[in-house]
Amino acid sequence: MSENRRMVVTSALPYANGDIHIGHLVEYLQTDFWVRFQNMRGHACVYVCADDTHGTPIMVRARNEGITPEALVARSHEQHVRDFTDFEVAFNHYGSTNCEENRAFSNRIFARMESGGHVSSRLVPQLYCEHDGMFLPDRFVKGACPACGALGQYGDSCDTCGATYAAEELKAPACTICGRPPVTRDSEHLFFEIDHFRDYLRDWIPAHTAKDVANKLLEWFGESLRGWDISRDKPYFGFEIPGHPGKFFYVWVDAPIGYMASLENWCKQNHARFDDWWNNPDVELFHFIGKDIVRFHCLFWPAMLACGGFKGPDQVFVHGFLTVNGEKMSKSKGTFISARTFLDHVEAQTLRFYYACKLNGTTDDVDLNFDDFINRVNSDLVGKITNLASRGAQMLHKHLNGRVGVCDAAGAELLAHAQGRADAIADAYEKRDFARVMVEVRDLADRANQYVDVQAPWALIKRDPEAARCVLTATLNLFRTLAIYLKPILPGYAAKVETLFGEPPYVWTDARTRVENRTIAPYAYLATRVEREPIDRMIEASRSHTPAPTPPQTPTLPHSHTPTLPHSHTPTPPAKPSAAPAVIPFETFAQTDLRVARVLSAETVEGSDKLLRLMLDLGDGKPRQVFSGIRKAYAPESLVGRSVVAVANLAPRKMRFGVSEGMVLAASNPDGTLFLVTPDPGAAPGASVA
Ligand code: 2FM
Ligand code: ZN
Repeated sequence: MSENRRMVVTSALPYANGDIHIGHLVEYLQTDFWVRFQNMRGHACVYVCADDTHGTPIMVRARNEGITPEALVARSHEQHVRDFTDFEVAFNHYGSTNCEENRAFSNRIFARMESGGHVSSRLVPQLYCEHDGMFLPDRFVKGACPACGALGQYGDSCDTCGATYAAEELKAPACTICGRPPVTRDSEHLFFEIDHFRDYLRDWIPAHTAKDVANKLLEWFGESLRGWDISRDKPYFGFEIPGHPGKFFYVWVDAPIGYMASLENWCKQNHARFDDWWNNPDVELFHFIGKDIVRFHCLFWPAMLACGGFKGPDQVFVHGFLTVNGEKMSKSKGTFISARTFLDHVEAQTLRFYYACKLNGTTDDVDLNFDDFINRVNSDLVGKITNLASRGAQMLHKHLNGRVGVCDAAGAELLAHAQGRADAIADAYEKRDFARVMVEVRDLADRANQYVDVQAPWALIKRDPEAARCVLTATLNLFRTLAIYLKPILPGYAAKVETLFGEPPYVWTDARTRVENRTIAPYAYLATRVEREPIDRMIEASRSHTPAPTPPQTPTLPHSHTPTLPHSHTPTPPAKPSAAPAVIPFETFAQTDLRVARVLSAETVEGSDKLLRLMLDLGDGKPRQVFSGIRKAYAPESLVGRSVVAVANLAPRKMRFGVSEGMVLAASNPDGTLFLVTPDPGAAPGASVA
């Protein structure tokens, strides 16, 4: 091991339009284990991350909620930081890609791309929604698969037959925002000519990624590397490209640059210079990522950095996906569990402990099996490890004034063995083989428990209290050694152990020392058993409280599979999309609050030939304004006094004409004629519709 390494470490930036969930945590927790380990070894390891804020989904979601993208981003940032803090993920800086530092780096890299002749422009045909006034990313179009005809497929690939295609090839496509058929329009796009970096990348990849990852990537080098489309048309929430009005950097351009921006912000706060940390050959740079985003980090990103005159990553560590009980996380099965829901039911350190047992530094998927989870936590963390401390310290305080003496001979020998495993355990940490760390620790805990069973201090204490003190001293020192080895994985737990022994924060070399001849603090809670019941409740809560739909921004998203449709929130009843609607769980549907409403007033809206402005009485004494696209079908005066069905819990939406605070239900015939849905006479305003 070289002395005094300096390192910058990153985890992939989570999208700002979704909750952190247990899939994400596979990555953030393992990165955190590794960074904490490096710092415990005395290295200077800076861990930076940020929210990935740009792109169409965030823009559309903000619009649906009637807020600005900036407000949405600020809200997510707060929630994400809270979740990470509660899971003990200790970033040195957690920023946002929507910051001026990021804009500056993005512009600088793009300027070098352009001046180096690596950017070209081409016309690209793309689906465009005339109603929403925007080009539609693949995940904002649904239709029938051009290969097998399956309905309701996204614009990039078919879930039924696995075919991949261009969105324009979908049969009967519909915009997922408004349900209308889009048109095909040409638009000028900018391309980063990645093939110019072909030779550089062919050497770079095997030197900076694991063998299996490199082999997969190099398969693409048989033919020329296609240019990467780096621009998107307005409206787009992101950075406008200098010299190209109306064009914005594609979110995946400024996302990895966000690593630099976050580091720059850390530097500003810590009186450090960015170039000393990023562009310094003596400082190592490591990215932790999931296997779905290898292309962005091991092709485009090193090429962008080389082009921009920046140092590239020293190593990209790629991990697998999370499965739960052997299957993909699923909302209907309640296994799509947000970080917050987990925290509401189960202690965070149990997930840290369990993921460590499963992570071995490869791209293998990690399975969270709840029976195994309960068993590992209860049998190993609580039964084998924590019990050494709780029984040992309590006995010592009850009968021997809480004072440790010296270790007996057998205990000292065992302790020497445990201390002798430090290098092997450090090696496992270094290789991100946390599962091997756990095997080592479990083996040491087994030996310690055998020792305690043989010595039986509870019996010895009656015959020879001082001999019992020696056994308890060895037991507690063995426990202390394990806690030091586990500190990167269980930092909060280790902090309580430091308090128990009255010691300053542990560093790796503290595993070589022992605590003798002094009083220790009374035992305080460290960990408890996990029961089945809170787990079942957590799964139930995840089943009924699905997070707000967030269409993914990339074709494949390992840790943020969000299979639901973005919900339409247009006051105009959508023209029926020809694609079959996605299946939604009953619980999702049940969240819609449908109420009988009486129309108090109705009027035309100046500047719109589609809308009527309705004032509705929902029986709560608070009239609501709703804009409805039924002007062609109804004269306003014919509606006053009439009962309709309204969606009462739709987030208000700001429109050109005012705020719409709900929606009325209407049926639409295939020819587009509209019919309001009306309850039978007798249903009073406010009556719930189910
Ligand atoms: O896949 C994702 O969730 C992306 N938000 C990751 C971005 S990583 C980096 F490039 F910023
Ligand atoms: Zn649309």
